[in-house]
Amino acid sequence: MTVLSWPLAASIGAGALGCLAVALSARLWLKRRRRYESSASVADAYDRWTNDQLLERLWGDHIHLGFYRQSGSGRSHHQDFRVAKETFVHELARWSGLDQLPRGSTVLDVGCGIGGSARILARDYGLNVLGISISPAQIARATALTPAGLSCRFAVMDALALEIADASVDAVWSVEACPHMPDKQRYADELLRVLKPGGLLAVADWNRRDPADGAMDRRERWVMRQLLEQWAHPEFASIRGLQKHLEQSQQAGGMTIETGDWTSATLPSWIESIFEGVRRPGAILGLGPAAVLQGLRETPTILLMRWAFATGLMQFGVFRGRKPSQA
Ligand SMILES: C[S@@+](CC[C@H](N)C(=O)[O-])C[C@H]1O[C@@H](n2cnc3c(N)ncnc32)[C@H](O)[C@@H]1O
Repeated sequence: MTVLSWPLAASIGAGALGCLAVALSARLWLKRRRRYESSASVADAYDRWTNDQLLERLWGDHIHLGFYRQSGSGRSHHQDFRVAKETFVHELARWSGLDQLPRGSTVLDVGCGIGGSARILARDYGLNVLGISISPAQIARATALTPAGLSCRFAVMDALALEIADASVDAVWSVEACPHMPDKQRYADELLRVLKPGGLLAVADWNRRDPADGAMDRRERWVMRQLLEQWAHPEFASIRGLQKHLEQSQQAGGMTIETGDWTSATLPSWIESIFEGVRRPGAILGLGPAAVLQGLRETPTILLMRWAFATGLMQFGVFRGRKPSQA
């Protein structure tokens, strides 16, 4: 009888466990998609992502991509993922002009997650922020994470039926919430309805390639289906599509919307989001085996997202505008 040496037996055992984990997570990925059904299914998905604590322990209190400044050679500077997320908030505040608003100006953060952006806007720019999300668990967590005295608060609300008066806020901020909206025109209408004349809009979105720039081939259609069905997205708008929804909204009052493409500045985020699990293994392992599987379960979607953004199937669009004062 051959007796295996201890290191060999241990590495065979670890390999078998690894294969089992990959097989299980692939099965979970294929069988348990989170298809968009209604705003309730989006709320349920975010309630789970909040309650299992995995996202927060790994990526901190921002559920959006990071911004990586390019060096002279066009390569992105290496930056901690969490720092890159904070950089993103400052870059969008600067690009959209929110950083120039007088202190105390009111901002509505539509689809606020657990409040990472809202707290920065309140703390660093002195803005008075209301963050809203469809997920009650996110709102409870956002409130718990916010120190007393900071001028931001949170409420459960549907972005497509904002319980906010017309023309009542100085700025509207919405980051990566649009992919969950089944009616992009209504989303645009609601953002602009609550904005005061003279108010500022800052939106960041995951956008699909505009159909006028090339139809999807078979492989792209398969990838697109995964991107939609794995993370509760009914549809992605293109950059031109969302720009049109905003400009043609009856609430726009002749507003001009400028767009930008931040794909290359945000692209490193996808791989960085996986590396966070390697850099901070305690964040996942501390939550037990279910969290490890859950982390593995998200990996194929993250890799497909990276592929889609790197090949032009997806683009990271940003949108800014000032509502005319005479609207
Ligand atoms: C990718 S997360 C972005 C969170 C946050 N903006 C951030 O940057 O950390 C998408 C957010 O949109 C919210 N959302 C999705 N559908 C919504 C709806 N119909 N009404 C309000 N919020 C919604 C989710 O609850 C979640 O907070």
